[in-house]
Amino acid sequence: MTPEALKRVAAVLRTAHRVAVLTGAGISAESGLRTFRGGTGATAADLPADMQALWKEFDPMRLATPEAFDADPAMVSRWYDWRRLGCLAAEPNAGHRALARLERELASRSGQLTILTQNVDRLHQKAGSRVVVELHGTILEWRCTMSGRRTTPSPEPMPAYPMPSPFHPRGVLRPDVVWFGEMLPEAALKAAAEAVEACEVFMSIGTSAVVYPAAGYIAAAAARGAMTVEVNPEATPISSAVDVSIRAKAGEALPRLVAGAFDSSGLA
Ligand code: OAD
Repeated sequence: MTPEALKRVAAVLRTAHRVAVLTGAGISAESGLRTFRGGTGATAADLPADMQALWKEFDPMRLATPEAFDADPAMVSRWYDWRRLGCLAAEPNAGHRALARLERELASRSGQLTILTQNVDRLHQKAGSRVVVELHGTILEWRCTMSGRRTTPSPEPMPAYPMPSPFHPRGVLRPDVVWFGEMLPEAALKAAAEAVEACEVFMSIGTSAVVYPAAGYIAAAAARGAMTVEVNPEATPISSAVDVSIRAKAGEALPRLVAGAFDSSGLA
């Protein structure tokens, strides 16, 4: 993480009004939640002992499909419930908190930060961010397979897998997340497109930037003339395309970036 790269972005943030960020699993890695791919990716060893025996072929990607749920609703809902409890227990880290501060700083001069997140853990909201577009839904809410009605399960393990729906005699509950092959929520897509269209700075933080449409936002923002920034300790397919690539952990880079933009001492 070169101080020059941070200074360059901090200088633009200091006067910007509209900023959009796209976040992925990497921003929650420092809160103890596993990413999907790469060095901090989930493995079978993360699972509780009794689940490890069940899932020798553990692959979080293969469980994230409607077909997997149809084939084995008990196993898939149990896995998601285990993840739900992990998200509930997790606390936001310095990266989440820095973005919450950035939102407040921009709002104080009638600007806006929009967080487009692929994460289902609600840690941005727990850190105090208010404008959060959940592109992949949230694991903290579940919905009835028959009626589509949503509910927030209590913070204990569910009593049954799959959990019978309280709304429909033939329904069960499934996590209110987007699975591979499913449509992203229309309202979220619209809000994301508006944020990308209007932003002066677009930052891609902690995402491998391979899942569309999220991955396309950075190109769209660049085409509109926004400054594009990536925060990721590893190189990704977009690293060479952004204006500024900050090779660092979000929990280290974002507090420095926001302090550099808004604290009187700035970046040393
Ligand atoms: P990935 O697991 O694909 O990528 C995580 C990224 O975070 C990697 O590029 C890491 O280098 C980076 N990373 C790790 N630690 C970091 C840290 N402390 N600070 C910053 N970056 C860090 O996760 P996503 O890009 O979020 O979709 O994956 C996108 C989607 O694919 C997920 O939402 C999920 C998955 O399949 C669905 O479930 C629909």
